[in-house]
Amino acid sequence: MGRNVLVVGGGGREHALGWRLATSPSVDRVVSAPGNPGLAQLGPVHAIDPTDPAAVAELAERERIDLVVVGPEAPLVAGVVDELQGRDIAAFGPTAAGARIEGSKAFAKDVMTAAGAPTGGAVATGVRAEAFAALERFGAPYVVKADGLAGGKGVRICTELSEAREAVDDALVRRVFGAAGAEVVIEEFLDGPERSVFGVCDGEEVVLLAPAQDYKRALDGDRGLNTGGMGAFTPVPGFALEDVTYLEDLVFRPVLRELAARGAPYRGLLYAGLVETAAGPKLLEFNARFGDPETQAILPRLASDLGELLWASATGSVRDAELAWHDTAAVTVVLASGGYPGSYPTGLPISGVPAANSHPDVEVFHAGTAIDADGALVTAGGRVLNVTATGPELATARSRAYAAADEIAWDGVQRRGDIARLE
Ligand code: GLY
Repeated sequence: MGRNVLVVGGGGREHALGWRLATSPSVDRVVSAPGNPGLAQLGPVHAIDPTDPAAVAELAERERIDLVVVGPEAPLVAGVVDELQGRDIAAFGPTAAGARIEGSKAFAKDVMTAAGAPTGGAVATGVRAEAFAALERFGAPYVVKADGLAGGKGVRICTELSEAREAVDDALVRRVFGAAGAEVVIEEFLDGPERSVFGVCDGEEVVLLAPAQDYKRALDGDRGLNTGGMGAFTPVPGFALEDVTYLEDLVFRPVLRELAARGAPYRGLLYAGLVETAAGPKLLEFNARFGDPETQAILPRLASDLGELLWASATGSVRDAELAWHDTAAVTVVLASGGYPGSYPTGLPISGVPAANSHPDVEVFHAGTAIDADGALVTAGGRVLNVTATGPELATARSRAYAAADEIAWDGVQRRGDIARLE
């Protein structure tokens, strides 16, 4: 008998996790909360608040869940895994103490430094004058980050000192991020391409997944505002899984030891955001969960049982995990609402998803979608759909992804045209 799995969350990452779990031999049933119309095609969805630990745990008990997989950071920071562990329910994801690695940028920098992992210089402070002095010390481009979770809006990269000081004042004086901006982290700017490396951890050991590249800016050529991610691809030339195993000892194991020494043994997904600088890879950030949309590109390449891997993480045995990968490339194109990452309309009818899904080697993952009162698929968020295609090479996967994305339309749909365009 396989396991019953509850996926917590309702974005494209959670649809991809649910989709891969549903094909895992170790998994019988996929339930999700709050889910989305894509996850609803895989199993029951429950409209609960995913950041309410008791509500998640009660649902897991009611549905006889063997493993809870927590997708987004907010439920982790809210202590959903702590509540589940307290009730002896296996959970994939760190406790609230471990999730501080994403929930506090100052904490993350402190851990990186203590672990000896390569990163840029930084000053964390709640004192305006100290923040201003750090800006002058590091110089332009100026990097100002709100310490806590700020819905993706807490990071500012400024060319002018006056603008950077305004960013400090937004956080410390005007309190636009509330408690999340009670401290700021002023960082040395790291120059180079960004890479995402995911380690599945069990408190002591780690197994790495195939690295991916994410596209954070809204517009082609890395212009426009920062977003949650407008596309991804894998493998990254010169940065494939076999090229990065040294990161296990340079970054992941030392950080796991440091967190355990601080009383926060880390289980779940540790996301290392790296910049390939001229002086080698340096850590930009950690996240406490799978990346979105990188997961939507990585998981279609995973040939082994995802359910077994996440179970091994939750129960402390990833050292025995042996992963197998399809020898393919994958490209994910995000389709977003017009106006995203600023304000955007919702409730707009979407056409073409079944046609896109019928393309060979294509999966359409739902992110910000809903079913309206008439049963029609409509937009319900900024990032609406993720079109992933696989192929023997990146170029093939890329043309398949864009051909399928061309089938999908709604009023104002926007996407980048340069995902995985390598020149
Ligand atoms: N794609 C960036 C993130 O998941 O944080």
